[in-house]
Amino acid sequence: MSKSNLETRIGSVRLKNPVIAGSAEHLIDADGVRRALKAGAGAVVVKSTNESQAARDQLQQAEYAVLDDQWQPIPWNASAPRTAFIACRSGLTPQPFEAWLEQTAGLDREARANDAIVVASVILSDLDRAVVMAKQIEQAGLRVLELNIGTPYASQSAKGAVSTELLPERVAAIVNAVRAAVTIPVWVKITGQSERVPDLADAAFGARADAVVMAGRLLGLIPDLETCEPILGTTLGVGGTWHLPMTCQWLALTRSKLGPDKALIGTNGAQSGLDVARIMLAGASAVEMSSQVMLRGFDLLGQAVSELGAYLDRKQMSAADLIGKAADSRKTFAQMTMRQDNWRNYIPH
Ligand SMILES: Cc1cc2nc3c(=O)[nH]c(=O)nc-3n(C[C@H](O)[C@H](O)[C@H](O)COP(=O)(O)O)c2cc1C
Repeated sequence: MSKSNLETRIGSVRLKNPVIAGSAEHLIDADGVRRALKAGAGAVVVKSTNESQAARDQLQQAEYAVLDDQWQPIPWNASAPRTAFIACRSGLTPQPFEAWLEQTAGLDREARANDAIVVASVILSDLDRAVVMAKQIEQAGLRVLELNIGTPYASQSAKGAVSTELLPERVAAIVNAVRAAVTIPVWVKITGQSERVPDLADAAFGARADAVVMAGRLLGLIPDLETCEPILGTTLGVGGTWHLPMTCQWLALTRSKLGPDKALIGTNGAQSGLDVARIMLAGASAVEMSSQVMLRGFDLLGQAVSELGAYLDRKQMSAADLIGKAADSRKTFAQMTMRQDNWRNYIPH
């Protein structure tokens, strides 16, 4: 048991620890959410919903692959190496909205016994419908709404099924509409498929988002040498530990643009408690872990909390002390020491 203080704050929301179980297929069934809570996550973001039938169909068309460092598919289980590359298509929860809402609200009531929060999650399709859903989510007693406007898949999906919002003006309009409809905290999850992630975050905060989750996964295509076709037939959402530096970069740039008072949540590439620490040092107040939990099992969440605690004990820091420390000590290239002909040490002899 860690002696350090693991608590963190995301605006007005207190979490007992910064490890959030991020939305994916293992959080569709109530049982999965309960297992994530039992494992010790500070919060659990359930599998997302919206009104689109095409988005539901997309779940039934989904396929998942984990690849080794030779781009060879390997079994989807905890034996995958740390370097495993994850590639998939996904869709939205198969449940009708009313059933999803009842289940999610019930789970959030249960979560109070774990001193945790179950977060509702809506992926934007039609804005008016999203606003109505947000109101129903608040009325059902849920304490936090995550609004995902940055899925990787909009360009690949049926029109309007999901959104990849790339313009700050659009982000502002969407967040304003949802914000005006509810008083509960709204966490806005934005795309990483942009060179304007800090601008998108700025727009979300300008429209009174309580936190911004950054950043959504990228798209990729992996040719199969035997079939000469793309693996799993098409463009895929791609992720894995390799993505952690890009997540940290977006967090650091956003913190430097918007200042330390804006609550950022990291997603994309966390695999362990030490990764959670890394992403917090880059500016996150909490970190979502999604695909690695789907791959390796719910215990990973508890292990991440313990590993983070042990790290904090060793450093004699609290979780809150980590937030943005590396980001704030980031220097420019011009501030770096001159190292005469250092480059010669890095070319072939
Ligand atoms: C199979 C799969 C399904 C996902 N489904 C959702 C979803 O329904 N809603 C959502 O906001 N994010 C969804 N995500 C995105 C994850 O929550 C997360 O942001 C992303 O996978 C990057 O984090 P990770 O490296 O921890 O997986 C999904 C990701 C995967 C791999």
